[in-house]
Amino acid sequence: MSGAASPPVNWDRSGLPGWTYSSRELFDLELATLFRTHWQLAGHVSDLPEPGDYICFDIGHERAVVIRGQDGRLRAFHNLCRHRGTRVVADRRGHCNKAMICPFHGWAYNFDGTLRGVAEADTFPDLDRVAWGLKPVELEVWLGFVFIRFVASGQPPVAELLARYEAEAAAYGAADVVPTGDGFWTDEIAVNWKAVRDVDNEGYHVRQAHPALHDLYGTAYHDEPFERGAARSEGRFNDGPSRLWSVRAYRSIIGDTSPLAPAQRGAWVYIALFPNTVIGLYPDSVTYYQEIPLDAERTLQRGAVYRHRDESRALRLARYLSGRIDRDTLEEDQMLCVWSAEATKSSAYDGVILSDLEYGLKTFHDHLREKVPVVCLPEEPGAEDMRQQLAAVDRG
Ligand code: FES
Ligand SMILES: [Fe+2]
Repeated sequence: MSGAASPPVNWDRSGLPGWTYSSRELFDLELATLFRTHWQLAGHVSDLPEPGDYICFDIGHERAVVIRGQDGRLRAFHNLCRHRGTRVVADRRGHCNKAMICPFHGWAYNFDGTLRGVAEADTFPDLDRVAWGLKPVELEVWLGFVFIRFVASGQPPVAELLARYEAEAAAYGAADVVPTGDGFWTDEIAVNWKAVRDVDNEGYHVRQAHPALHDLYGTAYHDEPFERGAARSEGRFNDGPSRLWSVRAYRSIIGDTSPLAPAQRGAWVYIALFPNTVIGLYPDSVTYYQEIPLDAERTLQRGAVYRHRDESRALRLARYLSGRIDRDTLEEDQMLCVWSAEATKSSAYDGVILSDLEYGLKTFHDHLREKVPVVCLPEEPGAEDMRQQLAAVDRG
């Protein structure tokens, strides 16, 4: 926590009640109040450089396609054919020639979403090509990252939420990076999305659980609390000897190979956007990862790695090494997520107690408590009560 304001002397260290990690009704409420109405990171502008290039993004009951128009502009739409509702584009990413063609009956949509053509058009009354176009989804680009939002809410624009980190992220070259060959990675984990976020939201466990990360930056790592929908963590590289060859090799080459300024060559920085997105800024690459909730106890972890445009062989090696450290970290975290989530159902479970070093996690929970106040209740409310809350959200 050093480097950030110290937590207050007395704060609630108890975390969220156990029921919030497996409630089906709460899951539905979270989809409606968080994931449908908060900015989601769909990719990077460099994922779709040419007109007709697209990426898809699904979350909860919503699915979107982001496509580059003939005019070079990015637009996002509900990936929902206006005829019978099937997906207009099916792949996670791809390219359309001239139009998006629905695979069901062949309706064609221009890249600006307007209806271009209808198979057997004379079997329909006259269709207004704009009115029957794809429905737009809000889109904002922040330093190259493409954010979408399915339903507008009181959440400010991304540029405002992340304004305090913009200069630093720009110094890491976030706007200019390009995809690596791997594309998006995904991994499924059998726990509630908050169990994943809880582990990621604190660095107290780095010393014990992540040997490589600890060797890389453990002694100088700190998390800043979540404030106004965003948070920052920084791991400045240790100077001392490392037991792990990957860390030794990474640290020995990164300082000389990174094209960034000295301040950025010596640290990994993470920018978190509530509720489920983290951007990683490294001297060799820019990454992101996020949790996509699949059901109350299943989560898709999704992310991507971007490289600097002109990458030397040495920098490529550095990126390979940092990716290796990240993969080990992901695996180490997954076991901890599973064990923590399992515990909430044990007869011995009596809540948790958080350290000052887990204050970032507490402030993340505070955001949840504000947006979904029912998580403050020690016991799960009845299903009917929860359904009424959901209906109230749906009514707006
Ligand atoms: S559902 Fe798309 S053309 Fe019929
Ligand atoms: Fe971790």
